[in-house]
Amino acid sequence: MLKVRDLHKVYREGSKEVYAIRGVNLEVNKGDISVIIGPSGAGKSTLLHLLGGLDIPSAGSVLLDNIDLYKISDSRRSKLRNKKIGFVFQFYHLLPEFTALENVMLPSMVGGRKRSKKAAELLETVGLKDRMDHRPAQLSGGESQRVAVARALINDPEIVFCDEPTGNLDSRMSEEVRNLIWKLNRENDQTFVIATHEPLLAQRAQRALYIKDGMLKGD
Ligand SMILES: Nc1ncnc2c1ncn2[C@@H]1O[C@H](COP(=O)(O)OP(=O)(O)O)[C@@H](O)[C@H]1O
Ligand SMILES: [Mg+2]
Repeated sequence: MLKVRDLHKVYREGSKEVYAIRGVNLEVNKGDISVIIGPSGAGKSTLLHLLGGLDIPSAGSVLLDNIDLYKISDSRRSKLRNKKIGFVFQFYHLLPEFTALENVMLPSMVGGRKRSKKAAELLETVGLKDRMDHRPAQLSGGESQRVAVARALINDPEIVFCDEPTGNLDSRMSEEVRNLIWKLNRENDQTFVIATHEPLLAQRAQRALYIKDGMLKGD
């Protein structure tokens, strides 16, 4: 469902160039859980953002269901992202002035349907039934992370990208988030691509890919 061809990303800061992604090729099959594992600075976040239609590559292509994400207009890409792609950011990106419930609901409102019941169900699934009316400042790191997971799922995306989904959690919470991902994958046939430096996540995945210096190595 996802095909990546010769992807490159160069960051330019004044006269300095950082080659963050250097020639990545990748195919992700529907229903798989793929884990991209590598050290800090290897390019995991950059790659995930490119795969999820959130950045612009310097070269190469990303095809989701045969649509080239970077050959369509920005507005079409945003619509497609809203409908088909879920994204769990490394640092949550929750909106501080909204409650947990409102944060989860937001992508559904952008998509034209206010799914408050579904948002409440998702928050219950991630163990935050009692935190729905809290704002991000009143939530712990682990709770914020789980709100971010719930938000990524509100529009029933075909594919969900998770950037270090357990990076800020204690071992019990990260076990819960792991189990949640595998449950969603099993029950809804949702495809997951997870970036992590945690071997535990890679062990259970269908596929583990190693990234170093912006280049992938398969297993
Ligand atoms: N916005 C940016 N501008 C310049 N360099 C960046 C930017 N974002 C990331 N980088 C650089 O790109 C490389 C890959 O970063 P990143 O994708 O965040 O790696 P990871 O998520 O694996 O830690 C690093 O060298 C990082 O410093
Ligand atoms: Mg990162």
